Amino acid sequence: MSLVIVSPASPFSLHIDDIASDKSISHRSVMFAMLAEGQSVIENFLRAEDTMNSLKIVQNLGAKVEDDGEVIKISSQGIQESFEVLDCGNSGTGMRLFCGLLSSANGHFVVTGDKYLRRRPMKRVTDPLRSIGAKIDGREDGNLAPLSIRGASLQAFDYRSKIASAQVKSCMILAALQADNACRYTEPELSRDHTERMLQGMGADIEVDGLTTTIKPMKKLLTPLYIRVPADPSSAFFFAVAASIVEGSEIVLEGVTLNPTRIEAFKALERMGADITYELTEDKYEPIGNIRVRSAELHGVEVSENISWLIDELPALSIAMACAKGESIVKNAKELRVKESDRIATVVTGLRACGIEVDEYEDGYRIVGGKLQKAKVDSDGDHRIAMSFIIAGLKSGMEVSDLECINTSFPNFFTILQKMTTVEFSK
Ligand code: S3P
Repeated sequence: MSLVIVSPASPFSLHIDDIASDKSISHRSVMFAMLAEGQSVIENFLRAEDTMNSLKIVQNLGAKVEDDGEVIKISSQGIQESFEVLDCGNSGTGMRLFCGLLSSANGHFVVTGDKYLRRRPMKRVTDPLRSIGAKIDGREDGNLAPLSIRGASLQAFDYRSKIASAQVKSCMILAALQADNACRYTEPELSRDHTERMLQGMGADIEVDGLTTTIKPMKKLLTPLYIRVPADPSSAFFFAVAASIVEGSEIVLEGVTLNPTRIEAFKALERMGADITYELTEDKYEPIGNIRVRSAELHGVEVSENISWLIDELPALSIAMACAKGESIVKNAKELRVKESDRIATVVTGLRACGIEVDEYEDGYRIVGGKLQKAKVDSDGDHRIAMSFIIAGLKSGMEVSDLECINTSFPNFFTILQKMTTVEFSK
C-alpha cells in the first residue's frame, strides 16, 4: 500500500467512536508505569507503531507486561539494563522521554530510531541532561541518535528552556524525579501538560505555577496508573477539517481529550468560521468529551500564538486554509521544520501541487484560499502530511504516496475515511 487515490466525498453525517487513542498519553502511560509500585492498568492504549515501540522498550527494561489485546497491565521491577538496542521507531516523544527516564537508571542503554528520527535534533534534551551530570552521547556531539546513555547521579536544576516543547519539559521532569534536590523547569509558553497531570495523579510532588514547574525528587515509588486513554485530538482533527470543508456534512468525534493545550487547532478552525460544539463527558486526569463539527463557510485566519498547542494539527489546518476565502498566515512555527518531516516545506510543496498560492517563510507560510485541484502528493514519510492531503482529496480528489507512516499514529484511519468516500490503493 504505497499509493492511494481518493475521490471527492458526497455530504456525510457520521458519529465516530474509534478515533485513534491519544499518542502522547499512551507513550506516557507505559513509561510512567515504570515508576510505580504495583500494577498499572491502561485501557484504550494506542496500538500504533510509535506507542507499541514504547511498550516494547518498557518490556526490554524489565517491566512485566500483560496484554489481552484490550487492557494492558504493567508491573515494574525497577528499570533494568537491557541487552537490546531500544528502538523508538519514528517517535521523537519516545526517544526524548526515554532519555529523561534512563539518565539516572542503573546501567548502559542505547536508544535509536528509524531513518527519519535519526536525523531529528536531540541536543534539546541531551544538553540540559548533560548539564546536570547525565552521561549521554551520540553522533554530532550528542545531537543525533543512536544515543548511548550510562545512568548517572543527577544534580538539581533550575532550567529555562528556550523552546516550548512538552517533550523537553517531560524529559527534564522525569530526570528531576531522580535528582538530588528540588528542581525547577520554566518554558517560554505553556506546552501540553499530560506529564504533570499524570504524575501528579500518581502522587509525584509536582507544582505548576504559570510557566514554571517545580519537581521534588521521588522519595518512594508512585501509585500505579489506572487510565483509559482518550481519543487523540490531533487524529480527530483530520475529520473535523473534513466535515468543515465538505459542504452539507456533519460529524461527531467521540471521547476526545479536551485538554486546553491540545484543542487549539479546533479553536483556530472556529476563528475561521467553523461550526464546532463541545460536550464534556468526564474529567479524571484530563477533561474528555465529544466534538461536533458541521460544515461551514471558512475564511482566512492568522495563527501566530500558542503554537505549541496546535503544532501537530497545522498540516491539516493548512488544508482548511486552502479551502477558505481569503488569506491565512502561520507565523512563529519554526518548530514545524524539525517534526517527522520539514512540515513547512512539505505543506508548501503539497499545496502548490494542488494549485494553491503559498508563500514560504522561515517560521511558517501564507496561504491564499482557492480551489484545490487534484494532484499527486508525496508524504515524505510523514503521517500527518499523508493524512492531511488525503483529507484534501475529499474536496478535490487526490493521489497520495508513501502511506506506511500512517501506521505510526492512526492505523484505522482508512476504515473511517471509507465511510466518507471511495479510496483505491495501489503499489
Ligand atoms: C509531544 C509533544 C510535541 C508534539 C508531539 C508529541 C508530546 O512535540 O509535536 O507530536 O507527546 O510531548 P514538542 O514537545 O517537541 O513540541
